[in-house]
Amino acid sequence: MKALEAKVYIIGAGPGDPDLITVKGNHILSTADVVLYTDSLVSEKLIARSRSDAIIRKSAGMALEEIVDEMVRYVREGKSVARIHTGDPAVYGAIFEQMAKLKEAAIPYEIIPGVSSVFASASVLGAELTIPELTQTLILTRVEGRTPVPEKEKLRDLAAHHTTLALFLSATLTKKVVRELLEAGWSEDTPVAVVQRATWPDQKILRSQLKTLDEDMRHAGIRSHAMILAGWALDEKLIEKAEHHQSKLYDKRFTHGYRKGVMNQ
Ligand SMILES: C[S@@+](CC[C@H](N)C(=O)[O-])C[C@H]1O[C@@H](n2cnc3c(N)ncnc32)[C@H](O)[C@@H]1O
Repeated sequence: MKALEAKVYIIGAGPGDPDLITVKGNHILSTADVVLYTDSLVSEKLIARSRSDAIIRKSAGMALEEIVDEMVRYVREGKSVARIHTGDPAVYGAIFEQMAKLKEAAIPYEIIPGVSSVFASASVLGAELTIPELTQTLILTRVEGRTPVPEKEKLRDLAAHHTTLALFLSATLTKKVVRELLEAGWSEDTPVAVVQRATWPDQKILRSQLKTLDEDMRHAGIRSHAMILAGWALDEKLIEKAEHHQSKLYDKRFTHGYRKGVMNQ
């Protein structure tokens, strides 16, 4: 791999398990001069892979200006900075505001993607989120809390499409989630799966349904750091009806660029 440049590398650390960072992200993390990470959400085991003489800074207690000032100062000193974010930086990563200020200061940056918690949650649930003949769409969103959501993106309106929904940052707002989904015409028995701290050693999985979601979350003590996945793709019994939900990709009657279907040979 290329030697690091004096710039900011914005790296997705993945959901928690330190082995879920990409090879490229891991290489940069372990060779950068400076590592600046979101300490509440990134594993210390991952940060322990930094160079022994690297400057390690925690960003959870810092305001945007302090974070950017540090990155700018180090890059101007000729150092490479690994800015470590949880999951994938492109989803609720608050990187846009950092990039805008870096650009203003003429500091180069590059983004290295990571495994988002939405996909880590699907994996620990053993779920596919797009099931043929059921739903071919996944909506990534959040319910409105203190952070406003644009009028045209209210959960009730998005849910009207009856796709799989992945709700970030919504674990304390389950009453509202349930109300909006019911108003969108979802049935009370719609499956919902919640994963708290997916891939961390203390990961919790909750299988529920719309009707009991709020109560089940309370009993399980899940109030933060959780992914809510909702829709019939999360039905645990679906796998027993798998023959009704097969993709065309591996269908022997279906021709595509890499295989001739038996009907077309
Ligand atoms: C600020 S957002 C960051 C999302 C992150 N960029 C990602 O791609 O996963 C934080 C929210 O992501 C979700 N989240 C992050 N890590 C998680 C994990 N390990 N397990 C479950 N949910 C997680 C939760 O909904 C949490 O409230």
